[in-house]
Amino acid sequence: MARFERIPRSEREQELVDRVPRILPACARTPTMSLDSAMIVKEGRGSKIRDLSGNEYIDYLLGSGPMLVGHCHPDVVAAAHAAIDQGSSFLLPNEAAVLLADEIARVTPCAERVAFGSTGSDAVFFALRLARAYRGRDKILKFEGGYHGQADHATMSNQWTKQPAEYPAAVPNSEGIPASVRDEVLVAPFNDIDRAASIIEANAEDLAAVIVEPMQRTVTPREGFLEGLREVTRRLDIPLIFDEVVTGFRFGLSSAQGYYGVTPDLTVMGKSLSAGHPLSVVCGNDELMKYSEGARRITGSYVAMTGTFSGNLVSSAVGLAVIKVLQQDGVYESLFARGRRLMEAVSSAFEKVDIPCQVAGEPPAFEPWFTDQAVVDYRSSMTADPGPTHRFGQALFERGILKGHEKFFVSIAHSDEDIDVTIDAINEAAEEVAEAR
Ligand SMILES: Cc1ncc(COP(=O)(O)O)c(C=O)c1O
Repeated sequence: MARFERIPRSEREQELVDRVPRILPACARTPTMSLDSAMIVKEGRGSKIRDLSGNEYIDYLLGSGPMLVGHCHPDVVAAAHAAIDQGSSFLLPNEAAVLLADEIARVTPCAERVAFGSTGSDAVFFALRLARAYRGRDKILKFEGGYHGQADHATMSNQWTKQPAEYPAAVPNSEGIPASVRDEVLVAPFNDIDRAASIIEANAEDLAAVIVEPMQRTVTPREGFLEGLREVTRRLDIPLIFDEVVTGFRFGLSSAQGYYGVTPDLTVMGKSLSAGHPLSVVCGNDELMKYSEGARRITGSYVAMTGTFSGNLVSSAVGLAVIKVLQQDGVYESLFARGRRLMEAVSSAFEKVDIPCQVAGEPPAFEPWFTDQAVVDYRSSMTADPGPTHRFGQALFERGILKGHEKFFVSIAHSDEDIDVTIDAINEAAEEVAEAR
């Protein structure tokens, strides 16, 4: 593959780049920390995206994760086109939604029943509501640094926490969160089962739920951590919710709960299931899911979980197509093998230039943390030096490789050639990061 030479921004792209911060302030994102990397995306195909000026990048941002099967996968595009020809949103059930719910229940260990939403954030919100109805309590426990979307409770002590409070106090990560929410969220350290269990036990009378990302951002669970959470929550009859918006269908058809072998009471998923179309999932055991039965509106104990677009035909048809693609032989094996090659390449590139770097995560989603400490929770991740992170991202970008601010996401569309090119870029970028020190 020819060496990447960035084409200068066209007049049209420059004009649109300039307009974004004015008209779309919340969307003024750039691929790296440098404003120079701002782009307007024209299209994505397979493992690559292209900007309006014609630059093509190997894409490990993957739209923040949803494009696990790659951009414009032909089966997905065909399913979306066929569905669109039949209409898109009816509120009433459609055939694809029913088949998709069945399929999710078949492959997801915790899922006896299923509900759809449109975004990961609304699925988290619904799951917490189900747990509150079941428990008749309000408080939730989450883990420091865990991200669960944008609902008020989820926005406490997430991965953008600058000044963590003393456990179990939570801090808001946005203005505009009602002050009362502080009292309804408790926080524990990820991977410290003794500390987490003692906070859960001390607050059991007030807790509605414990919510956790089974792999928190890119921090993998220590052996016994998820099992310990399962034990203490089961003993105290507190619903355990796995937020699998990132890990769902990415770690295998049975998601992280199958991969790590721990079954929660409720799970939320989104992102990769619907390849960029709005769809999220709440699924779990009948004892909790039954609160969403419509008849309960009349009989009482009803949890409202409706959404205009929830389970719409196009997203559901796409979800079915994605699962079919992921069921093909060898798909996860090669996804993991390619991700593993990249993880090893990052590790050895920084070892060679003598920069301490911990590559955390699992092969389909991982991140280098520039620290000499093991990254086991949010506070240890805060020891990482942001300088090399930014320089590494920028150096890759200049070599035609797009990585997310938080992770490398690997897709099933990344070819061996993409991985070879990326590894060469990783080696060069590591040297550039070392020279800048
Ligand atoms: C673990 C996790 N939960 C929830 C969400 C929220 O999903 P959405 O952005 O679709 O609302 C995200 C999004 O990145 C996530 O990573």
